[in-house]
Amino acid sequence: MTESMAAVLAGKRLVLVTGKGGVGKSTCAAAIAVAAARGGKRVLLVELGARPVAGELLDGVPPDHEPTIIAAARFPSLWACRLDERRALQEYLLETLKLKGLVKLATENRVLARLWQAAPSVDEMSILNALWRFETERDPGGRPRFDLIVVDMPSTGHALSMLGVPRGALAMIRGSSLAARARDIDAMLHDTNRTAICIVTLPEELPVNEAVQLADRLQRELELSSTHVLINGVAADVFDEGERATIERLAEEDSTARRLFVAARRRMSMVSQQARRIGELKERLQARFHHIAWTRARGVGLIDSIADALTRA
Ligand SMILES: Nc1ncnc2c1ncn2[C@@H]1O[C@H](COP(=O)(O)OP(=O)(O)OP(=O)(O)O)[C@@H](O)[C@H]1O
Ligand SMILES: [Mg+2]
Repeated sequence: MTESMAAVLAGKRLVLVTGKGGVGKSTCAAAIAVAAARGGKRVLLVELGARPVAGELLDGVPPDHEPTIIAAARFPSLWACRLDERRALQEYLLETLKLKGLVKLATENRVLARLWQAAPSVDEMSILNALWRFETERDPGGRPRFDLIVVDMPSTGHALSMLGVPRGALAMIRGSSLAARARDIDAMLHDTNRTAICIVTLPEELPVNEAVQLADRLQRELELSSTHVLINGVAADVFDEGERATIERLAEEDSTARRLFVAARRRMSMVSQQARRIGELKERLQARFHHIAWTRARGVGLIDSIADALTRA
């Protein structure tokens, strides 16, 4: 039996979930985290967005910069955090430059802090640095603090520029302790045993095109392969072939039947259109795919049902 998508992703250390705006990145990231946490793993779900959603999605308290368990009763091994750019910057400079007083001054002074933040890509680097720290942290027994880190990444364009920052920075800061950290982060992102880039898309024209372009640019520009694709919002095929033929025949023969079957035929046409888009996507993009049905569930019910789907082989 082939391994489920949940099992494949849970075998990594870092899962970066990206895709076009609004396709279900936050929802899928939460579901991947839940599926792994149910299996007993210690999972951290990382939010970066301006609009925090993890608290709502998991029916817990909104996460803070520090990882906390946000819905203890339901998910006792699931931590979440929402990275604060200023604190991430402070930690990044402290860890790499190790000049405590200077860093405190440089980041707590409002004018200096603004200067730092205006430096090219420093926010992205600080965020990636935090992910690297989560990935490398060990408890006193040498066990990883988190087994799996799932990141609700920004959408396409911003994700691309963020993931390219360590390499870009390397060219500028050669030889410093900042360069060593940038190299470590870049190595983590490129290690396919540790890191998976998971693209979420919908079976529609624009999201499919954007997913293909994203995978292509990640590969061409950054040598990063995105080998996991979640096709979200797939409409269930409610009729079998015989039923479809009957509906079409009756609708052709009889105008009352045609009216009766309006909704059924609309559904049939949507399913076949989606199937064409999915076929196109699979032809254009080399990856492991998983279909996620569109459901009426909301909140934690939606996350649970997607986690169930991901867990099925
Ligand atoms: N499989 C699904 N079935 C039903 N509703 C879904 C499904 N996936 C996502 N949704 C709903 O679609 C909306 C968008 O999802 P979500 O917020 O996860 O997208 P996003 O890609 O993170 O968006 P943004 O780019 O704004 O961050 C939400 O209301 C979510 O509940
Ligand atoms: Mg989102």
